[in-house]
This record gives sequence, C-alpha cells and structure tokens, in this order.
Amino acid sequence: MALDRIRKRPEDHAGANLDDYERCAASFSWTQARSLLDGLPGGGLNIAHEAVDRHVQAGRGGKLALRWIGRDDQIRDFSYADLAAQTSRFANVLAQFGVGKGERVYSLLGRSPELYIAALGTLKNGSVFSPLFSAFGPEPIKARMSIGGAKVLITSEAFYLRKVEPWRKELDSLALVLLTECSGNPPTATVDLAAVMTAASETFETVRTEPEDMALVHFTSGTTGRPKGAVHVHEAVVAHHITGRFALDLHADDIFWCTADPGWITGTSYGIVSPLTNGATMIVDQAEFDAERWYRILQDQKVTVWYTAPTAIRMLMKAGAQIPKRFDLSRLRFISSVGEPLNPEAVVWGVEAFGKPIHDNWWQTETGGIMISNYPAMDVKPGSMGRPLPGITAGIVERRNGEICEIDKPMAMGELALRPGWPSMMRAYLHEEERYRKCFAGGWYLTGDLAMRDADGYYWFVGRSDDVIKSAGHLVGPFEVESALMEHPAVAEVGVIGLPDPAAGEMVKAYVALKEGFEANELLRKELLGHARKRLGPAVAPKDIAFRQNLPKTRSGKIMRRLLKARELGLPEGDISTLESEER
Ligand code: PRX
Repeated sequence: MALDRIRKRPEDHAGANLDDYERCAASFSWTQARSLLDGLPGGGLNIAHEAVDRHVQAGRGGKLALRWIGRDDQIRDFSYADLAAQTSRFANVLAQFGVGKGERVYSLLGRSPELYIAALGTLKNGSVFSPLFSAFGPEPIKARMSIGGAKVLITSEAFYLRKVEPWRKELDSLALVLLTECSGNPPTATVDLAAVMTAASETFETVRTEPEDMALVHFTSGTTGRPKGAVHVHEAVVAHHITGRFALDLHADDIFWCTADPGWITGTSYGIVSPLTNGATMIVDQAEFDAERWYRILQDQKVTVWYTAPTAIRMLMKAGAQIPKRFDLSRLRFISSVGEPLNPEAVVWGVEAFGKPIHDNWWQTETGGIMISNYPAMDVKPGSMGRPLPGITAGIVERRNGEICEIDKPMAMGELALRPGWPSMMRAYLHEEERYRKCFAGGWYLTGDLAMRDADGYYWFVGRSDDVIKSAGHLVGPFEVESALMEHPAVAEVGVIGLPDPAAGEMVKAYVALKEGFEANELLRKELLGHARKRLGPAVAPKDIAFRQNLPKTRSGKIMRRLLKARELGLPEGDISTLESEER
C-alpha cells in the first residue's frame, strides 16, 4: 500500500496534549515549560525530585510508577512512594560511602529494578549517573569508565567478574563497586548492594543541585577517536518532561512502555525520566525481544503509549500482521519510534496491524530529548521524521565558502542543524573541548545527519554525513571496533563499515589486511570474530569479517571507509582524488 499522507481526524487526537501544532509552536516558551515542574527551594532543580518525590509530596505516592516484568514473567510493582523510598535508600548508601555531588556513578546492568533505583538515587545524591549497555564487552566499558573517572560502579556479580575485575586495578578512580545478584560472599573489594540497601534509611533530603549542575553522562561514538561523553545537566528535565507530553502525548493516566534499554539515552530520557515526571505508569520488560511476548505485554498491561524502534518494528513485521490480531490491543492509543530510519512501509504496516500509524521521531544523544516528531494531531507522511518540537528551530544548512548557510529550497539536501539553547542540549563532551566546539558553526548546532525539509515543514532523513554505524538502533564507532581488531597479532590494517541489513538497519563488517606470515583462512576469520566479540561484546563487535590484501587509503594513510563501502555495494566511488594511487 503506497500512501503519501495519513490524515488525522479530530477523533484520532481528542484530548491530545498538542492539539494544534501551529498554535502551540507559536505560543511556546521554555519558561512556561519550566513552570510545569516544581524546582527545589531557592531555585535549585533536580531530575529525581521532579520524577519521583514531587508526586509523593503532592499526594500521588500510591500511584503505580514502575511495573517490572521479569524474564520468567514475575512482576514487581513500585508505586511512586516505593520508588521514593528505594531511591532514598540508594542515595543514603552513596552518601555513607562518601560519594558526593558531581562524582560519577556508572551502571552496568540489565533491565533490573536496581538500575532504575540507582539512576534516580544517584541523582538525588547530586552525583552524576552514567549508564553503560549491558551487552558491552570489557573494552567499551573500560574506555567509558576511564574517560568519565568513574567513582562507583553498580553491576551484577557475574558482569563484574567477567567484564570488570580483570582490569579494575588500572582504574584508580574506582572506589566503590556495588553488586547485585551476589551468590554468597561478595568478591574482594566489592559490596553486596542488597545488604547495604536493607540497612539504609528510606528518608533522604535531595541534595540541592542547580539547573546547570551535571546530572547525566551518555556515551556516544564518532567516526574517529575515543567514545564521547555527552554531558547533560539537571535543567534537561524540562525538555524530558515537555517533549514526553508533546511528542509521546504522555498523560498521568497513561501506561507507557519504552522498549529501549537505559544503557542508551532513549532508555533514560524516555525509559525513566519523562514518563515519571509526567506521572504515568511505566512498564519495564527484562527479557529480550520476542514478538508474541511483546504483543502479550501490550495486551495484558493495557499499554496506552508505546515507544519503540525500527529494528523491533521490522522484526514484528517479519512475524506477520496476523499475530497482533490475536491480541486485544484496543487500549493502545499512540505508537512512536526512534533511533534509525523508519521505512514508510513500517508506518503503513502499523495501520494494518494496530489500526494506527507509527509516529517516527528524531533526536540524538547530544540533543538529550526529541527534537523532530510526528504528533497525534498532525497528518503523518510515511517516511518523514515529522516537524520540530515547539521551542526547537531546525534548519537545513550547507557550507558555502567556509560559511554555514541555510538552504530554504524545499527538498534540497543539506545537513540537519538546530538552533542551540534548549534545556536538554549537551553542555560538553567530557574532556573534549575541541570536538564539542566543532559541533557548532554560524549559530547552529550541526547534527552530522543529512536531511531535507519539504514545503510543509516536514523533515526527511537522508543519511549520516560521517562513518558512524547504526546497528539495531545503536551507534557504533568504527574506530572502536578497528582498535580492538588491531590488537590481534595477525592484523596489519583494518577498516570497519556498516552494510545495509534488512533487520538491523546496518550490520558492522570489518575488512582486515593480515601481517606477513599469516594466512587468510576460515579458522583465522573465526578467531578474529571471537576476539572482537570477547573484547567489545555483541552490541559492538563485527558480525562479519573479510580479508583484503590492501585497503583503500588516502595519501596520508587514512583508510577510506567510504570507498570500502562503495566498492562493497557496487556504488559510485565518488571523489577519489586523495586515494593513494598504487592502491586503486
Ligand atoms: O543518525 C541519526 C539516527 O540516530 C542518530 C542518533 O543516535 P544516538 O545518539 O544513538 O541517539 C539516540 C536517541 C535517538 C541520529 O544522528 N536517528 C535517530 N532517530 C532517527 C535517526 N535516523 C533516522 N530517523 C530517525 N527517526
């Protein structure tokens, strides 16, 4: 079914928070958005207070905040009052161990209740929370913890022994390791979290943080160099709150399921903060994707707003549109997706499977919250990311004679840019002043994405302007993968690119040139795949490796990933004037 516009009727958006895009965008102010939140006495602001304690103090403590569904279907419920108590306990634990304001607390956990409690408890204590994805291997974990100067790590005993203990001594800053799922006596220099939580008090006065105090560090990847720690401050909560209202249409009576893992920013901004500040009930599923299970959760938990990702939607599509028909999904009011291009077919499939379109939206780790979106009260153009949030000015720009200029022509391609100044914008890349500065020019924040804007103001994603790979919605930096492979004694050179993949969007593939004396064979290929997986973990490691005698390089010796990709896909090679001649 080809559809260029899915029209919205008034009954499709009755009661929507954003009922008239033009009017709302014209009258919006961030000051007004801030007034929807409490703040701390004397002008302070703290994300955890806005997410949890504010509701308890207003008499809403009995409301269900978090329903956690275990792998084995066990359910654990936390009211807002329970969350307030548990997060206070966690904050007390940190305080007892001398962890102070601004100090870095990392998590390496699956989607367990402790992760949510630790995130909010850390913020209550005025410390900075940095979640790591549990499918990372030791290398990405070590890199991110050392860049951020981790003082505390909360992780499971099994993850600790496998992924952290072997190199722990190299990280001087790490003073405290809190373990979940302890099997008995905790290993040397670690603490059993459950034991100290039980002993801690349930009351804690939220540490006074200022709006510009650092709250969260989320790591992201660039084309080159080490991972980048994007710094977000407590003021970001203003954007988390209002974008949840506008782009996800969150209301206090919603049952909201964000399927993202808090190891990535979507799972924090919208898997913890936004639903809670909006007073909704959030669902967390510990298990990995399974089509039947997901439909069952939507049905049994009476989910009303669902925020997921294109890779998951493609997997549901593969399982067929008949399966959802077997479930009662009548409570589902709004479906939204983020993280990678959502194909028009997927939007239309939503109509077939759920009777409503899937609403795409766009943002980045750096922007901290949704910037461009489709809204309940706005027609959907399948394939478009939608229009800027109220309060956000977007543009398509290009560099002309060294200057950044806006392109006004409809459907002209350029770099997607945003006017800085919204509350959840990153404030820095940790210790990377130069890389941060390079993100801005001509009064714009340059996103690194190529896009177009049509005559109606809808934005269309074209691609990345760099070599970063998007696999199953997760950003993978090719340099991080190349560095891990280079550590293998057989590897002389390596180039890593993303190749189109029908399920994951892109698949990480490495091209390896071997050192003298090593033979390219299947055994070595498997060994290299295993080596990369062990160091990087399944979320980052290449899925495939090919041997090449020579890799295309610039005269200055840089591997031309773009050319590698063009050759692999049989695409035009573009400008190859800098290619080293003998390698052509
Ligand atoms: O390239 C864009 C892609 O994901 C990048 C941001 O990735 P990350 O920092 O991991 O962000 C996580 C929060 C979403 C963007 O620069 N991207 C994100 N949303 C979309 C998208 N590409 C196409 N369509 C989208 N809706």
